[in-house]
Amino acid sequence: MTTNRTFTMIKPDAVANGHAGKILDQIIEAGFKVVALKYTQLSTEKAGNFYDIHRERPFFNDLVSFMTSGPIYAAILEKDNAIEDFRKLIGATDPQKAEPGTIRNRFAKSIDANAIHGSDSDDNAKIEGDFFFAENERF
Ligand code: RTP
Ligand code: MG
Repeated sequence: MTTNRTFTMIKPDAVANGHAGKILDQIIEAGFKVVALKYTQLSTEKAGNFYDIHRERPFFNDLVSFMTSGPIYAAILEKDNAIEDFRKLIGATDPQKAEPGTIRNRFAKSIDANAIHGSDSDDNAKIEGDFFFAENERF
């Protein structure tokens, strides 16, 4: 079953700014169980594949160079209604539009350096989780 799972990355800006611990704490306090967790850095190829859906968009090259600029935390998270609840917890893509108290409102500086990723569907959560984690890395 994957329908109660989502996938996240704490992005390079939030890690570099020392916010990863506070963000993980907010995620766990909101009721998400950590199923898998990894500290890693994306290669250009891997970031390009992860964001393949945005390949033709004008911001694609900036997105890939930002996402490869430093290490990230990748995680699979579990909770009832995980996709929707996690998107609510992180807030709007543009942190200027993110609700007060959301992770992007608290920790993100711009639409590019927006602190965190959250899957947008059950299908993508499965694809994205499989991209980073083997079965024996999930608990
Ligand atoms: P994410 O995938 O990272 O959780 O973000 P999202 O669903 O809220 O936004 P999405 O449309 O999937 O875009 C992926 C990432 O690309 C960057 N972006 N820049 N300059 C722009 O107009 C623009 N639009 C999107 C953001 O960093 C966004 O998180
Ligand atoms: Mg997205």
